[in-house]
Amino acid sequence: PTITYIEHDGNTHTVDADNGDTVMSAAIKNMVPGIDADCGGGCSCGTCHVFVEPEWQPVVGGPGEFEEPMLDLNPERNDQSRLSCQIDVTDELDGLVVRLPEFQF
Ligand code: FES
Repeated sequence: PTITYIEHDGNTHTVDADNGDTVMSAAIKNMVPGIDADCGGGCSCGTCHVFVEPEWQPVVGGPGEFEEPMLDLNPERNDQSRLSCQIDVTDELDGLVVRLPEFQF
């Protein structure tokens, strides 16, 4: 599946992700800047924050039970916020577009 990441400055990166990756790991593997992922995908650092484009929100869904409190700590959080390590790549997500925040906290 193809995933597009749009950096805060508008730079766009489209990568070919594999099923079994997460939106975070696909970015790291493809050296997309703007996602730190300090905890390596454990839902405990909050530095893999992304904004899911509105048209994709129904497909991607909202944050999970353990993700919610992490997002709440983030000053840039809005109603498009997700932790990208908590989004599993599937064929359904082919074409997904996420925006990256200016800073990871
Ligand atoms: Fe740490 Fe996602 S990588 S919360």
